[in-house]
Amino acid sequence: MKSLHLQIRFLVPLLVTLTVAALLALPLLDRMTLRWFSRDLSTRGAMVAKTLSVAISDIEPGAKRERLRNLLERGVLDERLVGIAMCAADGTQVLSTKGFPDTLGCKEAEATAAQKDPRLELASGAVHVGVFPVNPAQADSDRLVLLHDLSLPDRRSLDTRRYMIIFITVLGLAIAGITMIVAQLSWRGWVSGMRAILRGEGLVRPLLQKGQGGAADSAPPELQPLEVEIRQHIRELEDNLYREHGPLTPWDPERLRGLLRTQLRGDQVIVVSNREPYIHQRGPNGVTVSRPASGLVTAVEPVMRACSGTWIAHGSGSADQEVVDENDRVAVPPDTKEYVLRRIWLTEEEELGYYQGFANEGLWPLCHVAHVRPVFRESDWAQYRAVNQRFADAVVAEARGDDPVVLVQDYHFALLPAMVREKLPKATIITFWHIPWPNPESFGICPWRRELLQGMLGSTILGFHTRFHCKNFTETVDRYLEARIEHEHATISYQGEPTLVQSYPISIAWPTDEERAGWPSPADARRAVFERLHLAPDTMLAVGVDRFDYTKGILERVHAVERLLEKHPEWQGRFVLVQVAAPTRSALEEYREFQDRIHRVTDRINQRFGDAGYKPVLLLAEHHDHPALMELYRAADMCVVTSLHDGMNLVCKEFIAARDDDQGVLILSRFAGAARELPEALVINPYHVEETTDALHRAATMPPQEQRERMASLRMTVREFNVYRWAGRMLTDAGQWRLRERITRRVQRRSRESGEAVAP
Ligand code: G6P
Repeated sequence: MKSLHLQIRFLVPLLVTLTVAALLALPLLDRMTLRWFSRDLSTRGAMVAKTLSVAISDIEPGAKRERLRNLLERGVLDERLVGIAMCAADGTQVLSTKGFPDTLGCKEAEATAAQKDPRLELASGAVHVGVFPVNPAQADSDRLVLLHDLSLPDRRSLDTRRYMIIFITVLGLAIAGITMIVAQLSWRGWVSGMRAILRGEGLVRPLLQKGQGGAADSAPPELQPLEVEIRQHIRELEDNLYREHGPLTPWDPERLRGLLRTQLRGDQVIVVSNREPYIHQRGPNGVTVSRPASGLVTAVEPVMRACSGTWIAHGSGSADQEVVDENDRVAVPPDTKEYVLRRIWLTEEEELGYYQGFANEGLWPLCHVAHVRPVFRESDWAQYRAVNQRFADAVVAEARGDDPVVLVQDYHFALLPAMVREKLPKATIITFWHIPWPNPESFGICPWRRELLQGMLGSTILGFHTRFHCKNFTETVDRYLEARIEHEHATISYQGEPTLVQSYPISIAWPTDEERAGWPSPADARRAVFERLHLAPDTMLAVGVDRFDYTKGILERVHAVERLLEKHPEWQGRFVLVQVAAPTRSALEEYREFQDRIHRVTDRINQRFGDAGYKPVLLLAEHHDHPALMELYRAADMCVVTSLHDGMNLVCKEFIAARDDDQGVLILSRFAGAARELPEALVINPYHVEETTDALHRAATMPPQEQRERMASLRMTVREFNVYRWAGRMLTDAGQWRLRERITRRVQRRSRESGEAVAP
């Protein structure tokens, strides 16, 4: 219907143009035709006059008048000649033929013949007037006046005009017809193609075509190279628009729930991660619940709350077994019970091999280029495979139908996607890799690189924080597997099964008004923190909050503090870094050594610049709960994030979310994925101690107005680019894929039922 309107909109101007052209062209054509005839008649007249002149000169003078009349009368027998007259040199008429009008005098005839258009309108019709000397050599020679009938040229002009109108009409109709046909054909293709792209179907189309039989309504081939680019540009434009004008439709739990209801039609969502979101511990006062320090948990927990699914994780707490039901399930969060946590129990041997060994001694240092050597043991690999299989079996057991949406989290489960795919071929498996992906050479160190890649390519969608990590992954596959890579569609097809590889920058849940209402004011937070940590009132307070991990650049950070006190002695006694270092993986030697080293360096700096009442670095190597961290963030003058390599880093986003007073400075490593989104921070290279030192000094001396401007902009970004958007974008892509897949299956079933050939 729309295309018809468009064609009409195109055709009407075309027809109007042709009509106007015809109206302008016809008089022109008329004039030209008459001019041709006029010239033709003048030439003809000259010839007739010449013939007559010769005959006249032969007449004997005595018989002249009568012979002359006969001669002229014979001349007008030519049907085109209306009349002939002979005029004397003084302008008097000598004689004239019958048809020559009495009213036309010689002088008038001469005047008319001298005009550009020697046309005269007589009662009998229009005539062409030509005057020719009988003897051109003689100046006072008699003249012949020849009147030619103009009705013939007029008739011809009318005919020409008629033919012209018919020609223009036929031409117009032909152009219109061809245009309509071409427009119909190409418009249908392009419009549906563009619609498909804008709906995002272009991204999932190749998945269907290759994996599902290709019955999808897809963009035409000529548009395919544009698809991903257009979508990326749309996303970039959307992102820029949001940055400049603030959110149009903010992502929040409600919108995410709506998306799950509509796009995923309430399909079951299962999350798989190693770390559980709630840990039950037995202590002297009974069972307590805590939340681990984990970026992954921070991000996925709000999503699970929004979609009420099942979260499968390793039950690592000492009281975890006490609180689960007979199916190892417990409803969490403990107070609101919004989703189910299904715990998996691991033996010590399994934990050692799969978690500590392969995941944290192998893959973690492999993917974080932080100068710690990865260690790969055959026995760890065997445990890693076995535990992946156990979790995959748990996914299959928890699935209510044959096509759940499975969200696989992180490097602990590289093999699980293919294992689940084997049992649940219709499942939508979204794997998110929370840590960086290295370049192909670095990844090539791993002896089981092929198996890991094959396992991951069991996913429907594979997400990384940044495009750079996607690129590294694609190049790694290209190096080590026989796979078909389609850069323009961001897909990798391995053994005919396609995987969409996309970047989805992770984030946090933006605090709600109720949460914020529970926060202490920045002044109260400062008072409480200063009191608890015995800080002098004029202290410039920097905070660092990390897991106690060698990738976080904690050593580089304390070195920068030391250098600050050397370079700017005025800060001695006044500058304090409070470093929260949440215990992590301390069973590993690499971690123990690193943690010991930090303790030693901190002590040395504190001895060098501190005294009984002042320590420049306060190392708090213990777990802090969320409210305690919020208080610290709100009390601080700056937050220092110096990761040597980090997938995203959510601490910086938590700090920004905590500063609703628009104060405080963020110092951020350029090697954290977050640096790409947060350029208003003071972005530094943590390996360059001097640069970090200067950033500390700059942050400490930054005027409140500049802090406000930077923080306001950072807050706008994090509020809009929140974790619901992260999940929403992945689930939207998944929803579109599922929709297409269902349609394809339905089409295939119908084809089978009706006995038609089904695409392979
Ligand atoms: C990183 C990983 C997460 C992990 C977290 C805590 O953020 O990407 O998967 O949960 O570290 O590590 P842990 O070993 O203590 O679970």
